Amino acid sequence: MTQKHIVPQHYEISRRDRNHLNGHRSFVVWFTGLSGSGKSTLANLVEKYLLESEVHTYLLDGDNVRHGLCSDLDFSSEGRTENIRRIGEVANLMVDAGLVVLTAFVSPFREDRERVRRTVGSENYVEVFVDCPVEECEKRDVKGLYKKAREGVIKDFTGISSPFEPPVSPDVHVHTDKEPIEESLKKIKAVIAQKLEIVA
Ligand code: ADX
Repeated sequence: MTQKHIVPQHYEISRRDRNHLNGHRSFVVWFTGLSGSGKSTLANLVEKYLLESEVHTYLLDGDNVRHGLCSDLDFSSEGRTENIRRIGEVANLMVDAGLVVLTAFVSPFREDRERVRRTVGSENYVEVFVDCPVEECEKRDVKGLYKKAREGVIKDFTGISSPFEPPVSPDVHVHTDKEPIEESLKKIKAVIAQKLEIVA
């Protein structure tokens, strides 16, 4: 597809204007980790905390987005890459709209996450690695998906029959199997607090 005959349109109102109106910066908090590691739980709690702090937010969650925007995608490598590419673009628009965007996607491939970082800009991207051994996620098996993956009912299941490439240097690294949730939240909130400060 070529964009060579498309000339960008100038906007009168910028992200900077919206950040000033809202009283805080906008950026992406990207939660990555295995299914059942606790991404959605943490992202929901962080969003609740931000709302109480009068921060404008939006939460994008894989299990929901895959019923709408990405309902045409499967869990092949190509499907996942396209899923994450779309979310990166949507998150970028939401950052431009002035929101603190929280995302909870397995996002197993390093290169896909790096592309999101480039799309939104490194200074607008906070990577949270929700680390939990696959054995523990499988034990939790909240949605019964690990069982189905073991039975071969679900193919290409992350951690079982599809790889997960852990972040090399995440901004926040939480361990949901061996630290209390309050501890994980504290680490995430500390990094977010620094980012929220408005740049004059
Ligand atoms: S991603 O790999 O493309 O980032 P995404 O976060 O959107 O995945 O969706 C993952 C969710 O879909 C999991 O939380 C799980 O509930 C469900 N799921 C269904 N099939 C799979 C699969 N093959 N691998 C991983 N998750 C799956």
